[in-house]
Amino acid sequence: MSRLLMNLFGRPYGFLGNIGGRIMAAANKEINEWTVALLDIRSNDKVLEIGFGPGIAAEKISNIIKEGIFVGIDPSEVMFSQAQKRNEAAIREGKVKLQLATIEHLPVFNEAFDKIFSINSILFWEQPIERLKELRHLLKPNGLIAITLQPRSKGATNETARQEGEKLVQYLKEAGFSSIRLEEKQTKPVSAVCAIGANPSS
Ligand SMILES: C[S@@+](CC[C@H](N)C(=O)[O-])C[C@H]1O[C@@H](n2cnc3c(N)ncnc32)[C@H](O)[C@@H]1O
Repeated sequence: MSRLLMNLFGRPYGFLGNIGGRIMAAANKEINEWTVALLDIRSNDKVLEIGFGPGIAAEKISNIIKEGIFVGIDPSEVMFSQAQKRNEAAIREGKVKLQLATIEHLPVFNEAFDKIFSINSILFWEQPIERLKELRHLLKPNGLIAITLQPRSKGATNETARQEGEKLVQYLKEAGFSSIRLEEKQTKPVSAVCAIGANPSS
């Protein structure tokens, strides 16, 4: 990925990153809502998002949870500030907690999560299978993980999305998840895919 695209979307930075965040807030809204729906969030769920970007899913989830909590990590200061603005009230109420961090250097969490998810971020992780194994250890038994991708590279098609989806399924298998399934959403400009798995109970 070029430096320009990295600064816009990969790890949004500076003026361009600010614009990238605004574009993603609009362009990724549908797949954020879809992923949240697939996770079937309950009002007491503890939820972790990796790479929260402009904070669209955080906003949606904070409207569902009552006794639960949403925790998000993202290494981009520009995304942190956009997500913080978008979720100001929920942060004040203690329902949303945002942290500047990477998946490669996760903060210490005090409790296990019911749901963990990530949208269009796994492409930027180092050694994704190792990272997914670490995430599995942060999930409660039978807790769910959802990894969504909508390929945006030049020339990407619905077939590209399906191939990426199969790759995600393989990653989840290798990371030790069970009951893995792949969902596809027909959306523009190309389909999005979401690989979902559970943390085995024993
Ligand atoms: C393409 S954006 C997607 C943002 C958001 N999930 C959405 O759907 O709009 C990718 C996000 O992943 C974050 N990211 C990149 N590398 C990361 C890493 N190593 N660990 C955690 N997040 C990362 C970026 O800062 C950025 O906010």
